[in-house]
Amino acid sequence: MTVQETYEVMKQKLSNFLPDFEIKYKAELAYQINQLKKEKNAIILGHNYMEPALFHSIPDIVGDSLELARKAAETDKDIIVFCGVRFMAETAKILNPTKTVLLPAAKAGCSLAESITAEDVRKLKKKYPGVPVVTYVNTYADVKAESDICCTSGNAAKVVESFNTDAVIFLPDEYLAKNVAHETGKRIIFPTRTPRSKNQQELDYEIIGWTGRCEVHEKFTVEDIENVRSQFPKVVILAHPECSPEVVQASDFSGSTSAMIKYVEQISAPQYLLLTECSMGDNIAAANPGKEMLRMCSVRCPHMNEITLEETLQSLQKIRYVIEVPEEIRQRALAPVQKMLTIG
Ligand code: 13P
Ligand code: SF4
Repeated sequence: MTVQETYEVMKQKLSNFLPDFEIKYKAELAYQINQLKKEKNAIILGHNYMEPALFHSIPDIVGDSLELARKAAETDKDIIVFCGVRFMAETAKILNPTKTVLLPAAKAGCSLAESITAEDVRKLKKKYPGVPVVTYVNTYADVKAESDICCTSGNAAKVVESFNTDAVIFLPDEYLAKNVAHETGKRIIFPTRTPRSKNQQELDYEIIGWTGRCEVHEKFTVEDIENVRSQFPKVVILAHPECSPEVVQASDFSGSTSAMIKYVEQISAPQYLLLTECSMGDNIAAANPGKEMLRMCSVRCPHMNEITLEETLQSLQKIRYVIEVPEEIRQRALAPVQKMLTIG
């Protein structure tokens, strides 16, 4: 595609809410990135939270964490550029040790991934011997390496139900754990808050959680939902499972980022409100001009926000920032990640 063709494609998707000069500027960047991508035999994976101009121009594949991890496992390209956050790029590296995995920002962290360390997991395993550890994919490689299986928001309940044990340790998202407990009918405790059981053999709970939270999704409240419903009585509200259980239960649908996109595309409603990262509403609106997306977002994920077209261009030009996972940790993290991919 030429610069002009790139601009035309982007204009078709973005002209409802982006000024033309902005589309022209971003089309130039997207063109250069797509040229370099070909030259360097790279693939670009883009998370659903990428800003609209990036989302609709350079990724070969867009999707939620699970879909992108699957695509990362399948690619035969030499370089994987991950337009997402660090834990996602690390997962790609765990699956592809011989490939170069690039994250276009030096840090692009995640409040959930920062909430727990490998040492925390080792202590929990000591405290609850024999209890399997399910770890949300929003964690760093050394935490995954201490786990029996990983999960994403797309398969968390199925992963928990795949165990026949009396209990599972589910880390580190407090709200996702509570939502999974609600969905699966299991009882939950938080050992950082609840005194230790006297007899570890007699567990009177089935999910042992941790108190990590997503700094974006924890902001949404039931009052916000009540307020929106009184203003737009027919609005359909979708909440990511990193929202509190009260928010999820007051919503009409909850699912991974891709599950929410599919739901909006399939269900006909006067308006839709997404209780998740702001950019996703823009991306859906761009791809589905007939859908009226309401916005209730004052918080963009600051980590996803670090990934821009400018940084992605620099990433491919300078081959930066290269994701490395120590081989000993990678090998131990591989099995839990691969198990996650087998559970749909
Ligand atoms: P998904 O796996 O649903 O895409 O979510 C990733 C994430 O970080 C949500 O905040
Ligand atoms: Fe992490 Fe929340 Fe940002 Fe997702 S939205 S990357 S969970 S901080």
